Amino acid sequence: MIPDSVQKALNDQINNELYSAYMYLSIAIYFDVYALTGFSKWMQQQAQEELLHARRLLEFMADQDASIELREIKAPQASFNSAIEALEVALQAEQDNTEQINDLYELAVKHQDHATEVMMQWFIQEQVEEERSARTVLDRAKLAGDDKAALLVLDGEMAKRDQVA
Ligand code: FEO
Repeated sequence: MIPDSVQKALNDQINNELYSAYMYLSIAIYFDVYALTGFSKWMQQQAQEELLHARRLLEFMADQDASIELREIKAPQASFNSAIEALEVALQAEQDNTEQINDLYELAVKHQDHATEVMMQWFIQEQVEEERSARTVLDRAKLAGDDKAALLVLDGEMAKRDQVA
């Protein structure tokens, strides 16, 4: 049985993951408008990954007969001044998500909810990768700077991503 406060935090985290999917879709649309299809594809795959994260939590709760609440998802930022800004928004969202996951882990430890502790350890590891990949894309876009040819080369690299981990 998951303690009530941990159930609430897990429901919050499901909402966070669904919001992240929304946010990545919003950024994908931004890149589509500028014909940066590689960036857009990368963002769409990130959105898919966030849905998988939400599903993992849903199944974890369902397996323990926990009370699942699907709540309203807030609208993500819809306009960006530049590719760099859009990528900064993505990285910041991942960093915020890491904090929320760390808080959830601490709550599970406090309540000696070992199953949630173990589940959150997976998410903590996953966030290392999520932050790294978002930071790498941002750093490489910064290297391209105002050089449109370099940005197109990077866009081609982004298009090669072919799986959702
Ligand atoms: Fe579900 Fe991007 O972390």
